[in-house]
Amino acid sequence: MIVLVSDKMKNITPFHVMALLERAKELEKQGRNVIHMEVGEPDFPTPEPIVTAGMNAIRQGDVKYTPAAGLPELRERIAYFYQQRYGVTVAAERVLVTPGASGALLLALGVSLNSGQSLLMADPSYPCNRNFMAFLGAQAQLIPVRGETNFQLTAQLIEQNWQQNTRGVLVASPSNPTGTLISKQALNECIDITEEKKGCFYSDEIYHGLVYQGEAQTALAYNDDVFVINSFSKYFGMTGWRVGWLIVPACFYGAAEKLAQNLFIAAASHSQYAALAALDNQSMIILEARRFEFQRRGDFLYEQLIRLGFVIMCRPQGAFYIYADCSALTDNSFQFVQELLEVEGVAITPGCDFGDSNANSFVRFSYTSDLEHLNEAIFRIERFLKNK
Ligand SMILES: Cc1ncc(COP(=O)(O)O)c(C=O)c1O
Repeated sequence: MIVLVSDKMKNITPFHVMALLERAKELEKQGRNVIHMEVGEPDFPTPEPIVTAGMNAIRQGDVKYTPAAGLPELRERIAYFYQQRYGVTVAAERVLVTPGASGALLLALGVSLNSGQSLLMADPSYPCNRNFMAFLGAQAQLIPVRGETNFQLTAQLIEQNWQQNTRGVLVASPSNPTGTLISKQALNECIDITEEKKGCFYSDEIYHGLVYQGEAQTALAYNDDVFVINSFSKYFGMTGWRVGWLIVPACFYGAAEKLAQNLFIAAASHSQYAALAALDNQSMIILEARRFEFQRRGDFLYEQLIRLGFVIMCRPQGAFYIYADCSALTDNSFQFVQELLEVEGVAITPGCDFGDSNANSFVRFSYTSDLEHLNEAIFRIERFLKNK
C-alpha cells in the first residue's frame, strides 16, 4: 500500500501538550511523581446519580441507536434548562444531542461553512476549532486579543477584521485558555455586528457552569439565530461519556440533523440517559459544591503564581485555567514547560497550543488537581525558578 495521507491532513496541527503528556507518562513509568496541570478535565469522578442512571440504562438494554438528534426527553430537558437557568425560551426542536461539544462544533461548522470561507476567532483560543475549519477547507482568522478586552473579541475588532470571505464569528466564554468572560454588553454587540454583516455567530458555552465571578449569559438571550455549543463534559464531570449539545438557528435544523445522521448516527445512548440525570437537582447539588472547590483552588493558584513572578493580566472568572505571562521568567515558554516537567515533574501547557500571538510568553495552568497537589506544584515551581 502506498502510504499517502490526505492533503487535508497537512493543515491539521497536533497539540504540543500531547507530546508532553507522553513524556510525563514515561517519567511516571520510571517511578517519577508528576503533578498534572496540563489536562483540561475535572479530577472529580462523575457524580453518583449520573453513573447510576447510565448503568441502569445499560442493564435495561437501553443501548440501541437513539434518533440522530438525541432522545426526545433529553432534548426537552435541555430546552427547559435554558428556561430555568437563563430565563430564555428555546424550542426543543432546535436542540441536537451530540458526542460532546466536539460533535456540536463539527456539526455547526459543517452545516454553515463553505471551503474558502473563514471565521473570526480570538487568539489565544481552543485549538481544535481551527483544525475543524481546516478539515472543511475553511480557515480560522485569528485575532490577537489582550488583557484590555479580557482576552475576548469585541464588536470593534470584528468590524476591523471582517473580510470578504468572512463567514462569521466564534466566541468562547469563559475562555479556554484564559478563563475570562465576555461581558453581556460585549456579547450583545458582537452578535449585533455579526448580524449586520449577515454572518453566523457561534457561541461555545462549554464552561458556563464553572463561573466564579460575574455571570455568563447565553448568546440565545440576545438573538435566536445563533449556534450555541455546550457539553456535559466539564461542569457535569462527564468528559469520557462523550455527550454534549448544539442549539441551531431553526433554518439550519434539517441540515444539522442530516449531517448528524451521517457523521455519528447518534450520541451514545447510555450517556444520554446519564445526561438526563445530570440535569436533576440531586446532581446539581453535588456539582455546585464542586464549583466552590474549583473556586478555592483557582484563588490559591492565582495568588501563588503572582507571588512567583508570573503576570496574570486578567483574573480568570471561570473554567479551571489560568493563562499566565511568564516572560519575566523565560523568553521561551515551550522550553520552560519542557524543563519544568523534566526537572520538577510538573506538567503545564505551553502558550503555542492556543495560538500564535505572543505564545512564547504564556503558559496555561489547569487547576484540576486538589489543593494538596497544587501546593506541592507551587513548591516545586518555586524551587525550579530559584535553581534556574
Ligand atoms: C472551549 C472548548 N470547547 C470544546 C471542547 C470540547 O469538549 P468535549 O469534551 O465536550 O468534546 C473543549 C475541551 O477542552 C473546550 O475547552
